[in-house]
Amino acid sequence: MKRSMMLVAAIALVVAMGCQKAEKEAVSTPEITKAVAVLHPTEGSSVRGVVTFTKVPGGVKIVADVEGLEPGKHGFHIHQWGDCSASDGTSAGGHFNPENVAHGGPDASVRHVGDLGNLEADESGKAHYERVDTFVTLSGSHSVIGRAVVVHAKEDDLSSQPTGAAGSRLACGVIGIANPQ
Ligand code: CU
Ligand code: ZN
Repeated sequence: MKRSMMLVAAIALVVAMGCQKAEKEAVSTPEITKAVAVLHPTEGSSVRGVVTFTKVPGGVKIVADVEGLEPGKHGFHIHQWGDCSASDGTSAGGHFNPENVAHGGPDASVRHVGDLGNLEADESGKAHYERVDTFVTLSGSHSVIGRAVVVHAKEDDLSSQPTGAAGSRLACGVIGIANPQ
């Protein structure tokens, strides 16, 4: 009698554990559809802004609004490390380049995943950037989640290796998962 009750208890426990496991599997991580980076100025800079990444049909829509720039073009990239701790932004490493290929412009067929081209600031020092990118993703090996966005002092010439000769780093922000609503 005692032994059979223990057997029933053991079976009940196994069934309960099985249910728990199934429940855990059902609660899978939702797909990331939006990300955001808040750009903070590096030392001696007053450049700041916000960049959003939104999954759309055919790619990821990147929208940036940045202020505090000198009028003109400024290199705009995703860098390898989501680390803006250094006062000059160098802790973010080089351009995010998971395929280990050459630097290029945003519309080049071969380019770093992080090569977003240039921001162009108006006379008031503000820049608005908006394009759908086909290299950047929010999941998988090209995911930019946890990487960093960097704005540079100079124009990215879209050809010099490996950085486009864009000069020093004026602002840096880590890309995080955003509320999709
Ligand atoms: Cu850069
Ligand atoms: Zn590059």
